[in-house]
Amino acid sequence: MWMRAAAVADAPAFASIHGRCFEQNWSERSFRTLLQDDVVFGFLAATQPEGGFESCLLARAAGGEGEILTLATVPGARRKGLASLLLNAAIEQVIRRGASGVFLEVRESNREAVRLYAKAGFRTAGRRAGYFVSAGNEPVDALILRRDLPAS
Ligand SMILES: CC(C)(COP(=O)(O)OP(=O)(O)OC[C@H]1O[C@@H](n2cnc3c(N)ncnc32)[C@H](O)[C@@H]1OP(=O)(O)O)[C@@H](O)C(=O)NCCC(=O)NCCS
Repeated sequence: MWMRAAAVADAPAFASIHGRCFEQNWSERSFRTLLQDDVVFGFLAATQPEGGFESCLLARAAGGEGEILTLATVPGARRKGLASLLLNAAIEQVIRRGASGVFLEVRESNREAVRLYAKAGFRTAGRRAGYFVSAGNEPVDALILRRDLPAS
């Protein structure tokens, strides 16, 4: 597996991976704006160095807390450890930036992601009832997951 830290010029790669993984995809412009923010950082990963990126993560560290903003692996590259690799890299970076915890929001119905985060040591810290609303679907609760971090 291969990974590296993201730069602003990677916004198209983020938008492409994200668009293949979520119904409500974020635009290239949104990723560019986020990556330009000093408190935001990201990583990209692939199973092969020459094959193009297959997984991406964007995170933020501010006010002593880290937040995973998005994490996705394209369907053909899943279950190979790419998301776990990026999550570990992000947690290391969040610790280096002095945060004492890291949190994120996930749909309670997203079993793959909930398992991924549980395996990485995240625990349920809160719930937002009916937070995710989309046309034609029942509202879905958001879980707020958090992991305490050791001091850097
Ligand atoms: C969730 C997602 C990011 C996982 O990416 P991935 O690269 O396949 O994850 P990994 O290979 O690192 O998997 C790590 C662990 O997560 C859990 N997991 C991942 N996919 C799973 C699945 N389909 N079924 C059950 N557990 C799963 C497992 O515990 C797995 O460890 P294991 O393979 O040793 O059992 C990916 O499925 C995805 O992009 N989904 C759509 C977007 C999304 O939901 N993102 C997260 C939003 S918060």
